[in-house]
Amino acid sequence: MHTWMRYPAFLLTLSVLSAPAPGAAQDRARIASPDGRNRVTVEIRDGALLYSVDRDGRAVFLPSRLGIAFQGAPPLRDSLRMVETARDSADETWTQPWGEVARVRDHHNELRVSVAEVGQPGRRFAVVFRVFNDGVGFRYEVPAQPALADFAITDELTEFTLADDARAWWIPSNRPRLDRSEMLFSSSPVSVTDSIQTPVTMETRDGSTFIVIHEASLVDYARMFLAGSRMQSTTLRAALAPMADGIKVRGHTPFVTPWRTIQLADRATDLAPSVLGLNLNPPPPNVLQSTDWIKPMKYVGIWWGMHINTMTWSSGPKHGATTANAKRYIDFAAANGLGGILVEGWNVGWDGDWIQNRNAFSFTQAYPDYDLREVAAYAKQKGVRLIVHNETSGGIQNYERQMDSAFALYHSLGVDAVKTGYVTDLTSEGHSHYSQFMVQHYARVIETAAKYHITLDVHEPMHDTGERRTYPNMMSREGARGQEYNAWSSEGGNPPEHETILFFTRMLDGPMDFTPGIFDILREHTGPRRQPWESRVRTTLAKQLALYVVLYSPLQMAADLPENYERQPAFQFIRDVAVDWDTTRVLAGRIGDYVIVARRERNGPTWYLGAITDEEGRTFDIPLSFLTGGRKYDAEIYADGPKANWLTNPLPVTISKRPVDATTRLHIVLAPGGGQAIRIRPAR
Ligand code: NOJ
Repeated sequence: MHTWMRYPAFLLTLSVLSAPAPGAAQDRARIASPDGRNRVTVEIRDGALLYSVDRDGRAVFLPSRLGIAFQGAPPLRDSLRMVETARDSADETWTQPWGEVARVRDHHNELRVSVAEVGQPGRRFAVVFRVFNDGVGFRYEVPAQPALADFAITDELTEFTLADDARAWWIPSNRPRLDRSEMLFSSSPVSVTDSIQTPVTMETRDGSTFIVIHEASLVDYARMFLAGSRMQSTTLRAALAPMADGIKVRGHTPFVTPWRTIQLADRATDLAPSVLGLNLNPPPPNVLQSTDWIKPMKYVGIWWGMHINTMTWSSGPKHGATTANAKRYIDFAAANGLGGILVEGWNVGWDGDWIQNRNAFSFTQAYPDYDLREVAAYAKQKGVRLIVHNETSGGIQNYERQMDSAFALYHSLGVDAVKTGYVTDLTSEGHSHYSQFMVQHYARVIETAAKYHITLDVHEPMHDTGERRTYPNMMSREGARGQEYNAWSSEGGNPPEHETILFFTRMLDGPMDFTPGIFDILREHTGPRRQPWESRVRTTLAKQLALYVVLYSPLQMAADLPENYERQPAFQFIRDVAVDWDTTRVLAGRIGDYVIVARRERNGPTWYLGAITDEEGRTFDIPLSFLTGGRKYDAEIYADGPKANWLTNPLPVTISKRPVDATTRLHIVLAPGGGQAIRIRPAR
């Protein structure tokens, strides 16, 4: 349950107030989605280029301005005329190497509107709209032209004027020290927001439409935030992350911006899995046509121990990354069918203040008690993949100087997975974490990794804009408040509703390495806290299992210490659960309250179901009509045990088996803060 900020009464009439001043349309073009429900109108009014979006004939976005501001020139926004329009359409289905669904349909109609300034210097640009049944994407294309060759963008002038003062689930983008997306979500009318991160999910006040604003194909540009108007209107404005000198984007024409995306759905449950952004990214380049080396997996890690202070990243008596420890974890992974092992704190640079001393990190030199070659060879021999950790703390030049030789070394040792980290708000060069500089850096890492057949799991990443379609080695990322906050957060860990919001917000842009699977929920915590439960996992154990199905990641961690899985029958679910999916169905859900997801494994008949709730206990009757009709299945059910609840009794899990088929209605009982995880296999 999510309490939210109230509407100031005067804002209820905002949609009328925020409409642009009336002016006769001088030029207008329209384009609709293949099913005819979503329609975009592009028009020039009084020299301004505006777009609007309606769905089933009802306004969703009122006429909203488009344009770009350049340094040393008037903004490219006013005195425009339409030069020409062109149309196109596509309908093709493509296969993902891995994902929430195997096959993705790209079915859209396209409208290209070319405009020019009426007077001198007569600069030109085009806006291309693609309208799908699940939403709209648009981007600017600026052709090469004498009056606009080398440029510096000071602002993108794109506006999103909502027709309704919709309820938004959002995290801020302009809070000091909190710039890395690791925040708890608020919900409020969109009109009271100030600066928010995308993807932002909104529900119209009548509950009829769900709207998600985000971006796709963020290449050589700055990340887009949205600036709200603090109670003035329902207009959100694009706000690009700056480089150290305040400039947002440097480049030369011709260039294209990322796509600005507006996903539309009738129900929250129709938002996921979201493929709009994937369809707006190009297919892989030739070097990545063969992707056999890119494999989803579950993994364990020398990791949680550092977060709960039983181990250290730095050298010393509690050093976690020792050769002996790594071998123990590898043995555990091999014995339990988990594909990989992450080792953090293995490399020189962690001693002292590793955030300040970011340029001291070596990505090839191990601490003396860790033999990288020996560990890599041992892992290989046991059929376990080693994930090498590269924390940069934002020391970008330090990392880029070493990256090629480090990746070459890992490749020579048979290592094909790296987890990177960027614990910092500003880079060592003073640029925003989300600036064009960083977009370029992350792209260089992905490309270099691809060259050495290395897959990536990026913490403190650039937000996901669908680049995994082009570079499927970019597998997972954190980019939200994950499980680690339950180990040490002085503000308190994640409240029970957190994951039920993540599913409908952050998870719409792509996989998240949330690191589920903490079983030692009642562990005594160290560190500052107000109440003992405020800095621990605030779920039941069954909910930890359900997260493997609900929160999608092709790299799924079994995050707890191996010893905490010993003699735990519930660990069987983590052993069994798949990490790559053919089909995903969202069976029920309300943002901030609950969500139930069923997924069928890739290349197999087995389904997995995950159900999670917030702090309220809930019951559901769920038809299993997604199963193949006429076929018999066995369900293995991991449910909250008697009297379980996240606060005082999180551990009981009842494991049961029962036959089911497509006609079964499954009665699902979730404890407060609880969950349920089910494996549904064809009967033997
Ligand atoms: C924060 C990351 O989210 C976490 O996974 C990692 O262990 C630490 N940084 C250290 O790199």
